[in-house]
Amino acid sequence: MSLIFNKNFFTPISYIKIYSHFIGKLFYLFILVSFLVGIVESIGISTILPLLVLGSNTEFPENIVTDFFHNIFIFFGIKLTIQNFLVLILIIFGTKSILVFFRGALRSFISTKLSKTLKETISKKYGDVSYSYFYNKDIGYLTNIVSTESQRSVGGFIKLSSTIVALTNVIVYLLFAFALNSKSAILVIIIGSIIHFLYKKIRSIVTKLSIKVSKSNGIIQNLIIQFLSNIKYLKTTGQTQTILKKISFEINNNRYLQLKNLLFTEFVISSFELINIIIFVIITYILVVIDGQKIILVIIPLIFLYKGLSQIATMQGQWQIFLSKSGGIKTIQKEITNLDNCHERSGPKKKTAFLRNAIQLEDICYRPEGKEIISSINLEIIKGETIGLAGASGAGKTTLVDIISGLITPSSGKIRIDGVNYSTIEKNWLRQFFGYVTQDPAIFNDTIKNNITMWGDTGKKTFNVKRLHDAITLANCDDFINSQKDGLDTLVGDRGITLSGGQKQKLAIARELYRDCELLIFDEATASLDTQSEREIQRSIERLKGLKTVLVIAHRLSTLRKCDSVIVMKKGTIIEKDTFSNLRKNTNSTLYKMIELQNIKE
Ligand SMILES: Nc1ncnc2c1ncn2[C@@H]1O[C@H](COP(=O)(O)OP(=O)(O)OP(=O)(O)O)[C@@H](O)[C@H]1O
Ligand SMILES: [Mg+2]
Repeated sequence: MSLIFNKNFFTPISYIKIYSHFIGKLFYLFILVSFLVGIVESIGISTILPLLVLGSNTEFPENIVTDFFHNIFIFFGIKLTIQNFLVLILIIFGTKSILVFFRGALRSFISTKLSKTLKETISKKYGDVSYSYFYNKDIGYLTNIVSTESQRSVGGFIKLSSTIVALTNVIVYLLFAFALNSKSAILVIIIGSIIHFLYKKIRSIVTKLSIKVSKSNGIIQNLIIQFLSNIKYLKTTGQTQTILKKISFEINNNRYLQLKNLLFTEFVISSFELINIIIFVIITYILVVIDGQKIILVIIPLIFLYKGLSQIATMQGQWQIFLSKSGGIKTIQKEITNLDNCHERSGPKKKTAFLRNAIQLEDICYRPEGKEIISSINLEIIKGETIGLAGASGAGKTTLVDIISGLITPSSGKIRIDGVNYSTIEKNWLRQFFGYVTQDPAIFNDTIKNNITMWGDTGKKTFNVKRLHDAITLANCDDFINSQKDGLDTLVGDRGITLSGGQKQKLAIARELYRDCELLIFDEATASLDTQSEREIQRSIERLKGLKTVLVIAHRLSTLRKCDSVIVMKKGTIIEKDTFSNLRKNTNSTLYKMIELQNIKE
């Protein structure tokens, strides 16, 4: 009742709209079936009156219910006997059971579909969103959305659907009560509205608490991920307790919020039972004692009223629980809007050949939020060249290769491949030709083979054995793979914990070679390696000369010795571009000074 007379009457409707956006028209079918169940059940309850009259052998009173059944029996030419009535009752309640099953099946179908749709939609949107979206998002926040919040949304749907079932029952029962005894229904409506106002404040508190619980869930998830991903450092330096204290504080806060939420919910549910019985007693007293109505004529409307009131309590309880979960779907809806706003713009064109001649950068600038990071860069990368990139930390080297790979879009200037503007090319198509190996390469918790082929032999795909072995040889991986107990089927652990830095690097290179990418980017790939491992990686890179176009970013300038040309960057611009030996000979060049500092011997 309080829902019907809620000033925010449209709140449940707005939630129905949000949910039906994900589950489609089935939700409306569910509401329709719920109404049908209520109507069939009410007809069933109404049979009590004619049954009482038939049983007591009295005259049929003039009444909408008795008239209804009387007319049905006359219409079908059936005798009005107790036996026939009992058969009718069986048919009515049998129909109700079938409808109840159908309603339950529909709810299960919808909730599983919702779970699938939410997870799929969000994951897909994370793939389509521009890279800059992830700048200030942490993993905890993102995983919380996909797992916890989508699950909470499904739980919310179950509660919303129960609220709707109760609401449809309330509407049908009250309509039946109204048809039988209008005074009783009006009394319920008046008393129900008063109660609604008393509970309004509690509902708004629960809604706010629910959103706070969502936020707190995200914070905990993130802290735990941070804790686990840095466990080696934290253990080595004896700092586990520091972060655990923080996690414990947040867990306590989360528990406090949840407890408050649950207590409010429990209070509403339990107090409503009591209120219902008080209303029932008051209305019966008014109708029978004060108004002097016959008990046989008010018995059915009173049954409807009692059932209606208990359904109001159920509805209130379910709605309350729904509100405590409503933060889930709200958070997801907000996330989807944010993701849609950051959707990566992609050109339509898919070229048939990639990098036949060169990639050209013309006057490229990049200034996120007004801060100039890359200024007026002009550069040509010719197919088959190996280009080295040097420069102080923060000079913009990584940002430049991110622009070249199309990961970030420059603020101004043009970038073309074989004369075709990047903005007209489909981004995902373009990126399949880029390889990327960093200091901390992407290693998946799976076998060596799956790390190289990216699960190339799962499902319908089968991986190319020759290409796999060629990639392994070219990346200098043979020795280390052969030394593993299970060879290619060796599990590498979380982020490759069982591998050394150099082995991870080689594995990452082998993957890029297996993918047969055209342009390979090494971003500080050898920075954390010892001299021996660095030499090996360097040899792997050298083997690619002429076979692939290669961009090597390196702080260790010895890595750049064999490059066709070397670019030196400073504060977002290119200050030098020449061969390594020319720059090295020029005592005025920045590279010369950098080399001197690193003491590199020829
Ligand atoms: N999206 C961004 N928003 C704001 N600043 C950014 C953004 N991306 C990069 N920067 C800044 O741009 C500058 C260049 O960063 P970049 O990572 O390209 O440097 P780098 O030459 O690769 O440095 P390093 O050698 O340390 O890896 C840095 O000052 C960095 O903080
Ligand atoms: Mg960098």
